[in-house]
Amino acid sequence: MTEIKLIIAFIFQLTAAINLLRKSENINCNGEKRFSSFDQVIYIYYPQSELTPTKCFYLVQSPVNTYISAKIYHNLNGIEPNCRGQKVLVSRDGDSELKGSSVFCGLRKNRPMEISSIGNEMTFGIISNSSTSSVQIILRITKFTQNNCDCSWNIGKKIVGGSNTLPNEFIAHAAFVTHLNEFNQSICGGTIISQNYILTCAHCILAIKNVFKWNVMIAVGRHNISAPANRDTIYADYYKISSAIMHKGYRRKTNDNDIALVRTAKYMKFNRGCGAACLPFAYENFIVPTGTIMTAIGFGSTQFAMSANIDRQSWILQKVQLTVNNSLIHCQNDTRKLCAIGDFNDKIKLRGDSCQRDSGSGLYGYMRNRYVLFGITSSGYACGEKKSYSINVYVAKYLAWIRSIIGSSEFLCIK
Ligand SMILES: *[C@@H]1O[C@H](CO)[C@@H](O)[C@H](O)[C@H]1NC(C)=O
Ligand SMILES: *[C@@H]1O[C@H](CO)[C@@H](O)[C@H](O)[C@H]1NC(C)=O
Ligand SMILES: *[C@@H]1O[C@H](CO)[C@@H](O)[C@H](O)[C@H]1NC(C)=O
Ligand SMILES: *[C@@H]1O[C@H](CO)[C@@H](O)[C@H](O)[C@H]1NC(C)=O
Ligand SMILES: *[C@@H]1O[C@H](CO)[C@@H](O)[C@H](O)[C@H]1NC(C)=O
Repeated sequence: MTEIKLIIAFIFQLTAAINLLRKSENINCNGEKRFSSFDQVIYIYYPQSELTPTKCFYLVQSPVNTYISAKIYHNLNGIEPNCRGQKVLVSRDGDSELKGSSVFCGLRKNRPMEISSIGNEMTFGIISNSSTSSVQIILRITKFTQNNCDCSWNIGKKIVGGSNTLPNEFIAHAAFVTHLNEFNQSICGGTIISQNYILTCAHCILAIKNVFKWNVMIAVGRHNISAPANRDTIYADYYKISSAIMHKGYRRKTNDNDIALVRTAKYMKFNRGCGAACLPFAYENFIVPTGTIMTAIGFGSTQFAMSANIDRQSWILQKVQLTVNNSLIHCQNDTRKLCAIGDFNDKIKLRGDSCQRDSGSGLYGYMRNRYVLFGITSSGYACGEKKSYSINVYVAKYLAWIRSIIGSSEFLCIK
């Protein structure tokens, strides 16, 4: 057994050595590298000389729709998990301050640690105070395919009723924010579907255009929308809108085809707190049965989620469970709409619901252990009242429309 292991280790080393011979590039201490093609191999080698500083930081960025995998060979005194003065830090999110990093130390000369990025950026830190320490990192770039991609990756525990979401439970939620009063507030929601596009409703685009004169930013990775981004989750970020495309069939009176796509001015950085939602590709010809439980989310309204403990000042992303009902009047004869109704809470005389400023946010089904985006909050009949319910765009009927707008080359992960 030991012998086999040794041979394997030897082969590993040999591959590493061959790769080293072929090496095209390596990154210096405190270096940045932007990969241009996906089949490149890059090395981080530490120490590079006796003069190498005791702290090095490396940023690696690969092309959009690829990810980076790292094999880390190291010889560092120090014992996990604290590692004290000697360690390798790896941020799978590409965090520029190495927040939320994995930490490695000890002896891994033959059996490398393997770790991959979430999106197309990864950062590394090496801290050492000994000249006998060494670290070698081999980086490879892989294109996302339908076999290795992912969507809706953070799953929280399911709970009944309305409540705060967990931080970054819904990685695909985007908020359209504007400066109102003293805080930035979310005026509409949206759902990230690819690194460049956000799905929302058409009437939100009308509001962004006519009421807010495009003076709106896209906030992602958020939990508490009233906190400044640098005091919210480590994934909080802002993007500008580059363009918005409303469905040509949108009718304001009937709310028919209340769907739109927003393109971000630059590619969004995907990480553990920001990524694409799974779209209902497996459900294109499916009618969600009455009685199916779904989860609506939103920063929007005070009545949302009917939770008694909702902190109305802090605007934590809310979630509420709604029950699909195809017999409700606005959905009776319209398979492109999905009606859903919350439970009525007798104590506070409110019904779980999505309301005004939740427009554009997602209604998720929990299928095969993931959140799948089934609906877009479009309109409602009243809000939180006894007779109220929420009317959603049924996303499965618009997948072809989405593809026609974003083009065939835009990558969507289908799970
Ligand atoms: C390196 O740092 C560790 C932890 O602070 C310390 O115990 C060790 O003595 C240091 N080694 C050298 C050579 O300075
Ligand atoms: C949300 O952010 C606001 C503004 O920074 C802060 O006053 C409030 O306490 C925060 N709420 C929570 C639950 O963290
Ligand atoms: C409000 O949003 C803008 C982006 O539109 C951002 O630059 C600013 O820091 C935000 N302010 C607060 C208090 O969050
Ligand atoms: C669906 O709505 C109809 C009409 O309001 C109602 O009679 C029925 O009980 C509802 N079904 C469920 C499962 O909630
Ligand atoms: C839906 O269609 C049925 C059968 O044609 C009809 O009786 C009903 O009134 C229609 N409902 C709505 C809200 O138009």
